[in-house]
Amino acid sequence: MKLLSRINKLPLFPVQIYWKDWTGDLDGIAKLIKDDEKNNPGPNNDSGMKITQARSGSNAIHLSEEPLYKELFGFIQGCLDDIWRQEKFQCDGFKICSSWSNIYYPNTSLNYHQHPMSAFSGAFFVKGEAPLTFMDPVMPRRNPSLMPISPDNDIASFSLNSVPGRVVIFPHWLEHGVSNYSYDISPITSTPAEERISISFNSLPYGKINHRDGLNLSSAQINVLTSQEQNG
Ligand SMILES: [Fe+2]
Repeated sequence: MKLLSRINKLPLFPVQIYWKDWTGDLDGIAKLIKDDEKNNPGPNNDSGMKITQARSGSNAIHLSEEPLYKELFGFIQGCLDDIWRQEKFQCDGFKICSSWSNIYYPNTSLNYHQHPMSAFSGAFFVKGEAPLTFMDPVMPRRNPSLMPISPDNDIASFSLNSVPGRVVIFPHWLEHGVSNYSYDISPITSTPAEERISISFNSLPYGKINHRDGLNLSSAQINVLTSQEQNG
């Protein structure tokens, strides 16, 4: 019998998503965030739904600088260091420049969005199972067209399980959101209604940027500021 040869396929322009699991005290982090919310509630999300961003001390967007979160952010910073090393980015590393906690109550969702003023952004899942959904960044592929339907190619979005303890890091331009999971009819996203807690963050490159290209492209020396330096 003659075997049919398969046509070769090259996955061009893939998007790299990085993830790693933390084995630290997740319950302790969940409690810290809930206590922060109780003592100093932050603003509700502008989607109009009940997602709060708890403040820690006087801090809404610099959670990484809070001593009680030091161990967790040490782990996240280590992940950014791994990406920098692995991908040989021309800078001295990536530093977390903003970070905040989110509490999603049942029947809430977060619209698709990108993260401005960031290189790599990320989410750390603390509690709850509503997935994080990424949109295909290739706009024409998102909509039905004269390109016939194909099971392997019609993936307009991809939902990643929000496994507690897992950090997911992605390029800042990749659109993502959280479904209104309690009302969702999709079996992938329908989970029992319980609060979902996560931490979000942005990072920027620091040090010498693009200094070895030999092509006369722009280069820079960048210093990422702490919250105190920012406000001083
Ligand atoms: Fe986000």
